[in-house]
Amino acid sequence: MDVDNSSFLWAPSVPLLAIFLSITLPKTQFQRKPSSPSPHTHAPPRWYPHKDPILGLDVLFDIAQSVYNHKFLTFTADLINRFNGTITYLSLGRQAVYTIDPANVHAMLADRTRCQDFGLGPTRRKNWKPLFGSGIFNSDGAVWKHHRSTLRPVLSRAGPHEFEVFETHLQTLMRVVPADGSTVDLQRIFDALTLDVSTHLFLGTSTEVLPSLFGSPGTTDGDGNGNRNRNGAQGQEFAAAFNYAQRAVSGIDDFTLSGLCWKFLFGDSRLEQSLQTVHSFIDEAIEQASETFHADRADSADSPGHQLNGRGQVLLYKLLNEARSREDIKYDIINLLAAGKDSMTSFMGSIWYVLCQRPDVLDNVRAEISVLQGQPPTVEQLSKFSYLHMVLQEVLRLYPPVPANQRTAEADTFLPRGGGPDGKSAMLVPRGASVGYSVYAMHRLPEFFGPDADEFRPERWADVLLNPRPKAYMPFHAGPRTCLGQNLAMSLAKYSTVRLVQFYQSVENRNVEPWEEKLGLNCSSRHGVLVGLTASSQCVSS
Ligand code: HEM
Repeated sequence: MDVDNSSFLWAPSVPLLAIFLSITLPKTQFQRKPSSPSPHTHAPPRWYPHKDPILGLDVLFDIAQSVYNHKFLTFTADLINRFNGTITYLSLGRQAVYTIDPANVHAMLADRTRCQDFGLGPTRRKNWKPLFGSGIFNSDGAVWKHHRSTLRPVLSRAGPHEFEVFETHLQTLMRVVPADGSTVDLQRIFDALTLDVSTHLFLGTSTEVLPSLFGSPGTTDGDGNGNRNRNGAQGQEFAAAFNYAQRAVSGIDDFTLSGLCWKFLFGDSRLEQSLQTVHSFIDEAIEQASETFHADRADSADSPGHQLNGRGQVLLYKLLNEARSREDIKYDIINLLAAGKDSMTSFMGSIWYVLCQRPDVLDNVRAEISVLQGQPPTVEQLSKFSYLHMVLQEVLRLYPPVPANQRTAEADTFLPRGGGPDGKSAMLVPRGASVGYSVYAMHRLPEFFGPDADEFRPERWADVLLNPRPKAYMPFHAGPRTCLGQNLAMSLAKYSTVRLVQFYQSVENRNVEPWEEKLGLNCSSRHGVLVGLTASSQCVSS
């Protein structure tokens, strides 16, 4: 989830920061006149009725409370719905906007004439830099374009190589996870699985965190060239450091006043340590791969069509082949790990959160994939499972891994809605204003998804698929910055769902608490995904 210090999600740190910012804030955009005249008819924005009209601490306090109570997503959805989809409010005295109106979100992200007016904002670029550098996730303009054009061709669509990697790690899952009906947390298991798969696909060697979670040895054997997996303890250390660093740089790690005071006064030594662990882990992987890469090159100097000795499928080798600097490669890998890993954990966790509570849906999936007779699916077979596809679309609708996001106006600009007494006219958005939006709320709008929009009903996609996909549906973002890993994500989710349905004859729901959000860069289930698994006798290994 994308966070800026002028956005809703930074609200919890407001009480402390307000004291400092109210003294030091420069003249607010709220007071500044827009520099360019409007090409549109627009109306004054519809303001939140603040009790504190100077800093807007009233609404920030309510939001902070909703975050503490793990109800940020429903709280903001209800609030913005009451304002016809868009409100303008004060965030520490700065004008900010929050919207769930797809017309606004598309204007900001995808409209050619408008989207260049919005960027990630200076706060995100600055705060995220120690972990993400100026990688694709943390850059705008020419730098972003450069990353995007490099990564698009090397981030392959999922094919036989990727399926082989998925299968290897799913076999490990089946081997190590208890299937005797005892309760396990699938979300925690997927967290390890997605790291093992991502490091295998991107670096060529897997962290093997999943087997070590259950005290088992790993199964993959490095890249087959003496480059062993940096597995077990080292993988776990990397995973913990990476998780912490992501939460800390995005400012959502510690909402307690004491924690904030401590960090303000003494800095965050855990972050320093975590950054060092992450950077040296990736540096070491690049160093090893680079040696192998150059050895391969020397070996095949005489042979035209250098083949990287079969390692050409691994993203890191593709990047080395592009002759990019080590620094660039390091940040590309870190950005891709951040982009893909947690969103996949969240997605796969939600799929099983639903399936274990909806035996009817699970039975339908089981019936659809029965043609495989327990065999792993091929790329082609997987693409034909239309019910499975609808189930996954519906999971992404109700449990989007990135449920809220934010952009900053880089110039005085306009949004089509949010102005006038009914909020239906265009409105001015001054340079520097944060515009937050809730994908979670948009995905529940009855005007796009019907009166039963809150229900999990995969069949709705049978109708919707005949028509253009609703504008309000955007789990993978929209416009030029649409997710680059969408195909890989859908393939991994489908493949793993098929295999797990085949592996287990029953998946019993053991969740006691109702679903509650756990916000990070992505959103997952705060209480995990608890199930009891019973192994099937029919599953066939690849
Ligand atoms: C279900 C899984 C996933 C979801 C829901 C998802 C969603 C998103 C979203 C919402 C964004 C836009 C973020 C922003 O600009 O603020 C994004 C960007 C991105 N995603 Fe994904 N993603 C998923 C999986 C993956 C995977 C597996 C990869 C790569 C291996 C990946 C790579 C990227 C990249 C590189 C970007 C940056 C694109 C750009 O800024 O040009 N994603 N993703």
